[in-house]
Amino acid sequence: MVGLPDKMPICYVNGKRRILPRGQAELTLLEYLRDEGLTGTKLGCGEGVCGACTVMVSDLHQGELRHRSVNACLFPLYAADGKHIVTIEGVGSLKAGLHPVQQRLATLHGSQCGFCTPGFVMAMYALLRATNGRPSEQQIAVSLAGNLCRCTGYRPIVDAFKVFAHVPAKAYTDDSIQAQESPAANGHNTPHLSEDGFPGFKRPLAQTEQSQASSKKVCPSTGRPCDCSGSEPPAFNGHTAATGASAEVQHSNTSSKVPSAAEQANLRGFSEPIFPAELRSYQAQDLCLVGLECTWLRPVSLAKLLEARQQHPDARLVAGHNEVGIERKYNQTTPPLLISISEVPELSQIQVGKTAVLVGATVTLTQLLDLCSHLIARRPAHETRCFSALSNQLQHFSGNQVRNMATLGGNIVNASPISDINAIMMAIGASYELVGSDGSRTALLPQDFLMGFRKTKLQPGETLLQVSIPFTSQHEFVAEYKQSHKREDCLAVGNAGFYAQLQSSDGGWSIERARISLGGVGPFTQLAPQAAQAMQQQPWSRATLDRTLAALSKDVNQVSGTQGWRLNMHQAAIASFLFRFFLSVSVQLEAEVPGSAPLFGPSELSGAPADLPSDGLSKGAQLFPLASPEAIVGHPTMHMAARSQTTGEAQFAGDIKLVGMHHAALVTSTRPHARLVSVDASAALQMEGVSSFCDARTMGGPGENAATSTATGLQHQQQHNYSNAAGHMKQDEEVFASSEVHTVGQVIGMGPENKVQVGDIDAWLHKCDHMLEGSVVVGAQEHFYMEPQVSVVQPQENDELIIHASTQSATAYQHDIARSLGLPSHKVVCHVKRVGGAFGGKETRFIPITAAAAVAARELGRPVRIALERHEDMAISGHRHPFLIKYKVGYNKDGEVKAVDAEAFCNGGWCLDMSQAVIGKALLHADNAYRVPHLRFTGRICRTHTVSNTSMRGLGGPQIMLAIESILDRVATELQLPQERVRSLNMYQPGEKAVCGQAVEAGQLRACWDKTLETSSFPERSAQVALFNQGSRWRKRGICTIPVKFGVGFAGKFMNQGGALVHIYMDGTVLVTTGGIEMGQGLHTKCCMVAAQELGIPLDRVHIAETATDKVPNTSPSAASASSDLYCMAVIDACSQLRDRLAPFRQAKAAHTADGQQESGSGAQKPPSFPEAVRAAYMAMVDLSARGFHAVTQVTGLGGDMPFKYWTYGAAATEVELDVLTGAHKVLRADIVMDLGQPLNPALDIGQIEGAYVQGLGMTCKEELVWGDVEHDWLPRGHLQTRGPGSYMIPTVEDIPADLRVTLLEDEPGRAPSSTSPGAAGAGSMSEGKSSEKRPPGLVYSSKNAGEPPFFLGASAFFALKQAVYAARRDAGHPAWIQLDSPASTERVRMSCADHLTSNSTKLPPICC
Ligand SMILES: Cc1cc2nc3c(=O)[nH]c(=O)nc-3n(C[C@H](O)[C@H](O)[C@H](O)COP(=O)(O)OP(=O)(O)OC[C@H]3O[C@@H](n4cnc5c(N)ncnc54)[C@H](O)[C@@H]3O)c2cc1C
Ligand code: FES
Ligand code: FES
Repeated sequence: MVGLPDKMPICYVNGKRRILPRGQAELTLLEYLRDEGLTGTKLGCGEGVCGACTVMVSDLHQGELRHRSVNACLFPLYAADGKHIVTIEGVGSLKAGLHPVQQRLATLHGSQCGFCTPGFVMAMYALLRATNGRPSEQQIAVSLAGNLCRCTGYRPIVDAFKVFAHVPAKAYTDDSIQAQESPAANGHNTPHLSEDGFPGFKRPLAQTEQSQASSKKVCPSTGRPCDCSGSEPPAFNGHTAATGASAEVQHSNTSSKVPSAAEQANLRGFSEPIFPAELRSYQAQDLCLVGLECTWLRPVSLAKLLEARQQHPDARLVAGHNEVGIERKYNQTTPPLLISISEVPELSQIQVGKTAVLVGATVTLTQLLDLCSHLIARRPAHETRCFSALSNQLQHFSGNQVRNMATLGGNIVNASPISDINAIMMAIGASYELVGSDGSRTALLPQDFLMGFRKTKLQPGETLLQVSIPFTSQHEFVAEYKQSHKREDCLAVGNAGFYAQLQSSDGGWSIERARISLGGVGPFTQLAPQAAQAMQQQPWSRATLDRTLAALSKDVNQVSGTQGWRLNMHQAAIASFLFRFFLSVSVQLEAEVPGSAPLFGPSELSGAPADLPSDGLSKGAQLFPLASPEAIVGHPTMHMAARSQTTGEAQFAGDIKLVGMHHAALVTSTRPHARLVSVDASAALQMEGVSSFCDARTMGGPGENAATSTATGLQHQQQHNYSNAAGHMKQDEEVFASSEVHTVGQVIGMGPENKVQVGDIDAWLHKCDHMLEGSVVVGAQEHFYMEPQVSVVQPQENDELIIHASTQSATAYQHDIARSLGLPSHKVVCHVKRVGGAFGGKETRFIPITAAAAVAARELGRPVRIALERHEDMAISGHRHPFLIKYKVGYNKDGEVKAVDAEAFCNGGWCLDMSQAVIGKALLHADNAYRVPHLRFTGRICRTHTVSNTSMRGLGGPQIMLAIESILDRVATELQLPQERVRSLNMYQPGEKAVCGQAVEAGQLRACWDKTLETSSFPERSAQVALFNQGSRWRKRGICTIPVKFGVGFAGKFMNQGGALVHIYMDGTVLVTTGGIEMGQGLHTKCCMVAAQELGIPLDRVHIAETATDKVPNTSPSAASASSDLYCMAVIDACSQLRDRLAPFRQAKAAHTADGQQESGSGAQKPPSFPEAVRAAYMAMVDLSARGFHAVTQVTGLGGDMPFKYWTYGAAATEVELDVLTGAHKVLRADIVMDLGQPLNPALDIGQIEGAYVQGLGMTCKEELVWGDVEHDWLPRGHLQTRGPGSYMIPTVEDIPADLRVTLLEDEPGRAPSSTSPGAAGAGSMSEGKSSEKRPPGLVYSSKNAGEPPFFLGASAFFALKQAVYAARRDAGHPAWIQLDSPASTERVRMSCADHLTSNSTKLPPICC
């Protein structure tokens, strides 16, 4: 083929040479690495967004060594030729020692489930290797934007990596820290890290160290003086191990101490994987690699490329492979011939000319960004305005991993309607130079190059060679604005580019030339000719702006093919961009020629900057009660798997490899509701590698009685007693669809009514001063656990079956799959090592699919692995239930709410699954933290043809709590009273009974509320917000505090039970097994801490094994925030039995000599060590294994007056800043206060709080699922459009509060949770004495759980945002209340602001409900 040699490609992986396999042009680097057993690199999304697959690629580029982080899921295997790939395994390991990046992340609690962790390590590691000197905090922030984490809320990750940043010394001298933290500086007492290394209620640093520490450098990570030099080059060895380690002390005890001298030496001695000598002299050569489906050509000169283009004019060019990779994945097709152009030197050149810069088509976006910085730093500002605009845009262009691969040419030729680059290139008048296969060259303007939806003027055989980007002259202005929106959603509000050349005339200014490009409005980027016309040759005035706005609206109408709310949204967004351009030019003109262009006043100029405030990495503080130093429980001990998570050695179910393992893939319905007429698998069975097909017939369905099926290719060796009926709560599903497929938006039935009621609603509703009606819509939420669902099923002899699953519900898997296979439960064992995040989504929905894989495994007699891809997982495994709540509220003029009558409708999807539990738990939280004396809340599940919705953190609680909070928001707004006054007035008093009948204990709810107001300086900051809003028309701030009261435990009484098994071995080590699942929440760590505490031994003597149904049977799912209570208590039960059995031996040894003689004298009193006592007990034939059990008997279940074990209370105050012109917002600060009693492990608990808060913020302010329905009629009915992180936006590191402070309410500071001496420990395990007066009974060491309760606190951001919207609306002349549904997406917020730029709008974007 074109005379290119069929040479073997080589690469190095972690320093080892590898010859890449032939015939694998289809493979990605990720697939290759995982096949090779390097499973530390994870598959989270497969579309370049989550960063779980990050690896570092090093090569020689133009003679220089280059290190880049890339997404291995989009990196073609053969593109690795000549490169050194460093994976997580090459960075550090448990055996060789952890790299400081890994060490920091582990010890600063930066990993929970650990699935995202290797990706974060690699992103940070590659940044350090790539940066000349230390990276800045801003660079770190930008580079982490390419990685997602669903558990931690990012704060600990950010904290862990801060230490690697270069920071201006001044910002981190202790003087500056003290100035920031002094009450005078910010009006409140900032929490501090205490001297002994544990953050807690201790003397503030400012008071204790002020005098001695003056003018010493303060460590950027720890906030304490240290000797590290903020400006020294990256020291991967020194800083963390030596001085940065002080940060580690603060969060660690026995298992996470500062590295010992030996460990430090190990760290220091750790050798970085160096660039292999062979590759230093590696000359890339032409390649032709023929594969089964696809051939990979790689010419290394323009001449060879043109030759190849001549022979194969229709072959697909590949540059960075970002788009081609995604297309291959989603279209499930690979072009037969791929021509890689990344090694063609003529395409990667940059030439700086007098009037323009020529940039080669394969220059990556990272290189382009560097070029912009280089030019901006060296040339006058007015010359580089194109490059400044480009640079602004590129900084918001995904993470480093994408920018490091994506090319300028790839973006342009891809011709996406929302391409940022085409929009800006068109506006600035760039030109694209094409080269034909005969070498002819053509230059085209972008508007002439783009032809239609992903269509360009490129002729077959033509290649984009380079792009000419002009310098600007004095008074030429350029900008590009973009609505933060989905990359792949062509129908998004989009972007726009602006160019204007001004000239001074008659003491003022006029517009000489103008160009405006519109992206995302129509099928491709286009000019707005009427708007440009309206500006040109016109004075620089508001009248011109108004005229241009009118003309622009016509342009948008013409370009846009949409109507209704979508057209209005486009209109509003583009008009807002134009307005912002005028503001921004005004600011720049003013800077160039002071006093020359006062078109706008200072308040309006607040809308000029496109970016919301960002100070680099966010910061945080955590305050919690100190445990006594001798205790184990109560300390912020590191997650026990953290180290193996950071090295990628922690195994997940998807990493399991078994001999002869088959991989199952799903064939799913493409219709929402249809009859299944016939299934023909013959074509699939002909495909290479396909061994069988299972469907309803395999289960003994209609028409399949024969022993051998030609339709399925299966030999039925034996009769199985399969059952196709499935469904955990009710058997209303099927393993394989037999005659009908279900699933879209119309309601086809309704379940029975569920209700909570107190008082006399009918009488009281009309007795109040005011009565209002309204509704609240709460959209669905995707769990987005980072590890998609996966199971491995392994048939064994005697019909036994082993399942390795990523589930939070091992027993449900065991029983339901046994039932489907017609097996007794004792033949099926479910093992769960760990789960990469679950959040309720891994309880039930994957059971029928695992059952299908189990059928295949039984039929084939081989292990079968079924792993969902992210897009499948999102489409079929269900979501948080969306709710519609209709209400009537009666309230008095002082704001007291007397009566609420409400109906909630939740979309359960097509089958029942967990919906009954969801509506039940929702109603029990209908009051949140408020006393409503007359309340009736009914709830119904609607059966619809959407995917079945399922449990998610909080079940239905957060949705319904949003309703009561929205009602209070409305009451306060209608009465023009401060929100917090109305909330406070209606809040429960201690001892009052909640709507469900359960008492609200002592004063913790009010204490959390008061403490939040105090720590957040709420009154002062509310006043500051009001002041800010007065002087700022287009930036608004809002601040809001909300409380939470959340029930812990299962509402189904019988589920509140748990078991544990504790073995003590002869060497004195202890193995714990429980029925609880470790999914990042730290359950295993807590169980080990409790066991160590109870047995009075160091933590490192205790190990915990994976969960397995043959060790601890009949488990409840790890859910409902109940697990640590249940399993820690079960462990305590087992340990106390063992402690009792060991007691005689712990004393007896003291009285006897080794040969059994009675000892005399005081020297004989030394008590035996634990191992000695254990050995003695063993010799005396004492059983050293115990089973523990715990049942919460005091709860009543649903319908009783104590449905929950206890309430957990909290409150949060959040402040946001809103960019009115786009609807985007930044969370400036959040203060969270929770009552967790005496926390078992404050670091893990705070991790849960922060993660839950950010997830709640995501639910209410960001995450939106979009289905094809009446309102979204451009999508096929019933199809989920948002099936990956590119279109479904979970919060990223940039979305978290810039300042996040968490306080755990102080209970009894310094109280030891229990004595460490055996025998006394049990007494400390239950709440008692002083605390029992105010604490409910049965708490583990007086602790409370934090899994679900803090989730709803994220809604404080939603209500703060709503406050900002109110402020904007007041300026626009709309003082009244407005309904704002959740999520408050940018479009919904923008349109709610209702100003002159959105005036066409009549309807807000609807939520799929
Ligand atoms: C996670 C993620 C985030 C993204 N965010 C953004 C964003 O914020 N804004 C935005 O605008 N885009 C965004 N994109 C899109 C991305 O920028 C483009 O996909 C990328 O620039 C394409 O470059 P590439 O080199 O990877 O192209 P490839 O995938 O290699 O190629 C893309 C197309 O261009 C063709 N092609 C490539 N080079 C040439 C050439 N020289 N001559 C002729 N044809 C050529 C290919 O044949 C192919 O059809 C994002 C993509 C991802 C994966
Ligand atoms: S798996 Fe590659 S970015 Fe998500
Ligand atoms: S720890 Fe990040 S996704 Fe679980």
